[in-house]
Amino acid sequence: MSVSSYIEQIKADILDKVKGRAIIAVSGGQDSSLLSVLASQVLADKLLCVFVDTGLLRIGEVERVKKFFEDHSMNYRIVDASQEFLSALKGVIDPEEKRKIIGKTFIDVLNREAENFGAEYLLQGTIAPDWIESGGQKRDTIKSHHNVGGLPKDMKLKLVEPLRDFYKDEIRAMSRELGMRTDLQPFPGPGLAVRIMGEVTAEKLDLLKRVTKIVEDKVEGALKPEERPWQYFAVLLPVRTTGVHGDRRAYGYTVAVRMIDSIDAMTGTFTKPSWDLLEDIANTVTDEIPEINRVVYDITNKPPATIEWE
Ligand code: XMP
Repeated sequence: MSVSSYIEQIKADILDKVKGRAIIAVSGGQDSSLLSVLASQVLADKLLCVFVDTGLLRIGEVERVKKFFEDHSMNYRIVDASQEFLSALKGVIDPEEKRKIIGKTFIDVLNREAENFGAEYLLQGTIAPDWIESGGQKRDTIKSHHNVGGLPKDMKLKLVEPLRDFYKDEIRAMSRELGMRTDLQPFPGPGLAVRIMGEVTAEKLDLLKRVTKIVEDKVEGALKPEERPWQYFAVLLPVRTTGVHGDRRAYGYTVAVRMIDSIDAMTGTFTKPSWDLLEDIANTVTDEIPEINRVVYDITNKPPATIEWE
């Protein structure tokens, strides 16, 4: 089947299933962005596109998504729920619990928006690897992905998932066909929370946001879009190690840099970037963020590791 026939098939599916007002949570990632554009084309103002600012996002993300909504003349709302998420995550350490809390808080926010808009349907950009890895059919539960595992059974909205049989490479091909950006790396629904090992605090979030920006800027500055890894990001570890700052002993945070090559996120091999790039990242991170004094590089493939650390 051709890319344009996939697109027509998805639009027909939306028209067939959605009989009233609908809402979609747009994360800014490839999947939900593609679905929001396709659904807006067929539903127009019967669709509300909601961007939930969880506070667990990267620097510049809210502004980028706002521009995307405006560029596509979509009916949208941006909801700042960052304090709600931070309070819900207070004291939580277990990765699965974090994911579940984020999923639940997300649904609470979305339900409120849906009620205000009078939506009956929830459109969701779930793609094949999401449900396969959420204990859908083929495997045991590896991680409860927030866009699948977090949905409560008693949700009033009717769920429509027009992308659920598609894989990342097909999503990219359709996005390209529609003139959308395809150089964005995937970003997990629970955001930076699954890249902070242990409790999520405002301080750790701030550190990780700054490190993440450095890693992204360095990779994007050094490599052309087609040369970039599938994902490149940083993880804040709960270990502190000894270092030196000037002539004083320091006891700072450690971050791990993860870069991985993949075609569909199901498997992956760690990227072998140049030592110069890694050194530049390590030097910039430790120069600009004195609370961090050690940077390590993750050399594990998927499997056995997953892409995200939690
Ligand atoms: P893992 O860590 O399971 O990740 O190897 C596979 C891909 O999925 C992304 N990821 C998520 N995406 N909700 C999402 O929408 C989630 O809860 C989630 N967890 C991981 C991850 O970044 C990678 O691209």
